[in-house]
Amino acid sequence: MQQLISPPARPSADPGSPESLAAVYAYPDQVNHGLPWLRANMVAGLDGGARLDGLSEGLSGDADKLIFGVLRALSDVVLVGAETVRAEGYRPARAPAAFAAARRAAGQAPAPVIAIVSRSLGLDLAAPLFTEPLVRTVVITTADSPAESRRAVAEVADVIVAGEGSVDLPAAVAALAGRGWTRLLTEGGPRLLGQLAAADLLDELCLSLAPLITAGDAPRIIHGAEMPDAQRMRLVSLIEQKGFLFTRYQRLHPDSAPSAT
Ligand SMILES: NC(=O)c1ccc[n+]([C@@H]2O[C@H](COP(=O)([O-])OP(=O)(O)OC[C@H]3O[C@@H](n4cnc5c(N)ncnc54)[C@H](OP(=O)(O)O)[C@@H]3O)[C@@H](O)[C@H]2O)c1
Repeated sequence: MQQLISPPARPSADPGSPESLAAVYAYPDQVNHGLPWLRANMVAGLDGGARLDGLSEGLSGDADKLIFGVLRALSDVVLVGAETVRAEGYRPARAPAAFAAARRAAGQAPAPVIAIVSRSLGLDLAAPLFTEPLVRTVVITTADSPAESRRAVAEVADVIVAGEGSVDLPAAVAALAGRGWTRLLTEGGPRLLGQLAAADLLDELCLSLAPLITAGDAPRIIHGAEMPDAQRMRLVSLIEQKGFLFTRYQRLHPDSAPSAT
């Protein structure tokens, strides 16, 4: 694994070690002052597809899984759309041993909370995500979601109600930050990510580019929602391993000067 563009690191550090990757992907300081930072982590093929045979697994590789784990280990909460939970068979987040001390020192739970966005509440409540999480799973839903399902979900998860008709995502992010969870990570899927981007909530995109062409009709990683203007992003780190590129882009706000690089 080689870091092509990265923050200064000790020359002797192994670029693939959890410590090096934690330094590359450190959340900005604002998260220590109660301000949320929303990072997305997604993988795509070279032609932009966000899934292969219906899942992201076929696009992934060893280093992608390693970085996926590091990004989870740094986060307080993993925000995810219900369809990704259903399609990918989401399980509870693990407590990463290499990050146990750092998480304790930062006042974080041993593992990030999984927070699922769903209006239908069509979720498998007998799954380990609800029966065996290290930290109780959160479900973010609307005021008009099916009342009976909401009662059943509340037995096994914390329920946050934000908006009516569809989840009000700015309110949802504020509710998560209000619980002290400011290191936010979203793992999609594309439809949730589209809405987060359109609502101007996405601060950062960690995009893994897999050296594959898949064709077909897979959606792009950010899909569906319309945005009035394209959002400009700034590349802050780039890692390569076995032809995979691991990019980290941060939002360049309209009033920022264009990057010189
Ligand atoms: N390449 C990657 O990195 C990557 C990452 C993640 C997922 N994926 C792939 O993407 C696919 C799933 O993604 P997707 O885009 O179809 O779905 P998704 O964004 O994961 O989930 C969509 C679902 O989330 C809920 N939802 C989203 N926004 C909502 C809102 N504002 N209010 C209320 N509910 C809301 C709804 O759930 P209800 O239907 O329950 O109401 C909706 O049906 C899978 O094939 C997965 O493998 C790829």
